[in-house]
Amino acid sequence: MIQVQGLSRSFHDAKRGDFLAVDKVSFSVGQGEIFGLLGPNGAGKSTTLRLIATLLEPSAGSVTVNGFEISQAPAEVRRQIGFLTGDMGLYARLTPREILHFFGRLAEVPEARLMSRTEELIARLDMGSFADIRCDKLSSGMKQKTAIARTLVHDPPVLILDEPTAMLDLPTARIIERCILEAKRNGKCIVYSTHIMEEAEYLCDRIAVINHGQLKICGSMDELRAATGKQRLREIFLDLLELERAA
Ligand SMILES: Nc1ncnc2c1ncn2[C@@H]1O[C@H](COP(=O)(O)OP(=O)(O)OP(=O)(O)O)[C@@H](O)[C@H]1O
Ligand SMILES: [Mg+2]
Repeated sequence: MIQVQGLSRSFHDAKRGDFLAVDKVSFSVGQGEIFGLLGPNGAGKSTTLRLIATLLEPSAGSVTVNGFEISQAPAEVRRQIGFLTGDMGLYARLTPREILHFFGRLAEVPEARLMSRTEELIARLDMGSFADIRCDKLSSGMKQKTAIARTLVHDPPVLILDEPTAMLDLPTARIIERCILEAKRNGKCIVYSTHIMEEAEYLCDRIAVINHGQLKICGSMDELRAATGKQRLREIFLDLLELERAA
């Protein structure tokens, strides 16, 4: 469903000059699969996800999403995707319910379907107590739930989630995890980044570790264990970064 092939993106700034934030990354993700992207701060996770979601143009390589290529058919790619990122602003003066209606209409969800979908998400994400309060009066966890509901409202086949559970309390993170697992059961293709190792271990069918823009290892937990001789993801992850530093 998602095929990433030799994907690269360079940036330029005064201090670092030209550098590759994403460096020849390749992987693919199928229907009904949760693919986890791990890596230290600045590794290139968000840049990779933004490239797939067509928010950035690649310097090289290609990505196809459900048969559409990001450079050739960006509008079609966007229609396949629900994208969640930390820097996505919610409209301060709208309530969560209004935001779901607004984005559902933008995505041309039929009106009756949109009303039932909105109520279903408000119930599922336990948003009932604040669904009619303006966003600028909500806590960060409430805003995050609203942003996740917004990502799901048009029921896209592909979900790209950049740290969906960051800043959430444990019960709320559990609700989001259940939502992601349910999306998987419904055949969605999910690419997801996180810093929480236990969560990745629990949720992901396959995991990739990225460092300095390069994909260092990719596979199921069993494959990662076989390749590294370590059991827990946190050990696998830390050992990999340690080896990189020593190299
Ligand atoms: N617009 C930009 N201009 C210049 N450099 C950028 C830009 N966006 C990202 N970068 C750089 O690209 C690199 C990768 O950043 P990215 O946000 O993809 O990391 P990340 O893996 O998501 O990190 P984190 O875990 O902190 O979210 C970093 O060195 C960052 O400074
Ligand atoms: Mg990031």
